[in-house]
Amino acid sequence: MEVFRTLRFRFAHPILRVIEASFFFAQTEISHLVLISATMFHFSFLVTFLVALATAADDIVVDEDFQETIIFLKKQTTFGQNVFIRGGVGNGTDCKPDEAPAKDPCAIPIAHLELELDSETPLRDLWAETDLFLTWGANETDQPSTALGTPAQWTTSNQNSDYFHDLNIYGENYWMVHFDMDCSKLPNGFFDFKGYLDGQWESDISQAQCTGNMAVTPPYTSNNHIARCGYVNVFEWGGSSCLMEELE
Ligand SMILES: *[C@@H]1O[C@H](CO)[C@@H](O)[C@H](O)[C@H]1NC(C)=O
Ligand SMILES: *[C@@H]1O[C@H](CO)[C@@H](O)[C@H](O)[C@H]1NC(C)=O
Repeated sequence: MEVFRTLRFRFAHPILRVIEASFFFAQTEISHLVLISATMFHFSFLVTFLVALATAADDIVVDEDFQETIIFLKKQTTFGQNVFIRGGVGNGTDCKPDEAPAKDPCAIPIAHLELELDSETPLRDLWAETDLFLTWGANETDQPSTALGTPAQWTTSNQNSDYFHDLNIYGENYWMVHFDMDCSKLPNGFFDFKGYLDGQWESDISQAQCTGNMAVTPPYTSNNHIARCGYVNVFEWGGSSCLMEELE
């Protein structure tokens, strides 16, 4: 009995130890696994965080380049007419308006902003949504074919109208274009444009000295309207007047 017990003990002991050991092993394995997955979890969190940070940094850079810009172009129209603008970097020299914007050195990236009129503006919004560049052409692959350029919206300074815009302090028939524009694409902060209505270009412009608290004389000549990126620019169709104001 004694021997048996001893033997048993002797047998039992290593078995127990094996069980014990494997249990310990399993435990450590499990804890390893837990540790590994926890580490991976944290790592993926860290990666996500870093990616988010990088993306945010990217966004910030983009946001700095993209500046809110407004054009008011006075043009009396009849119901159903729609004013567009076309334009780009500089006075049109070296532009390639018939090519895709990526291949046109004059195409300026834009992102239209809400107009926040009381009235809805479905046509303008439809055209604005897919209008990602100011160009001299109408060749933007994703734009509906009815969009003949960068869309503007009829606004008035009359507060009783659904088309009143609080930045329009100028009067009736001020067609408004409201976008963020990538000012970093402009060598000197100016861009050119002309109105486009019913397939007709606005006539050549001989822009006068600008007025307004942000008026600056452009360093080049042009037969287009010359506007400043990041400001409110007010013009008249076919006219030489020019007003540049700070955005509040
Ligand atoms: C417009 O761009 C496309 C490429 O995106 C090109 O194939 C085409 O020739 C361009 N011109 C016109 C007028 O559509
Ligand atoms: C356009 O600008 C260039 C210089 O950038 C100038 O040589 C040319 O005369 C200008 N064209 C017009 C029509 O003003």
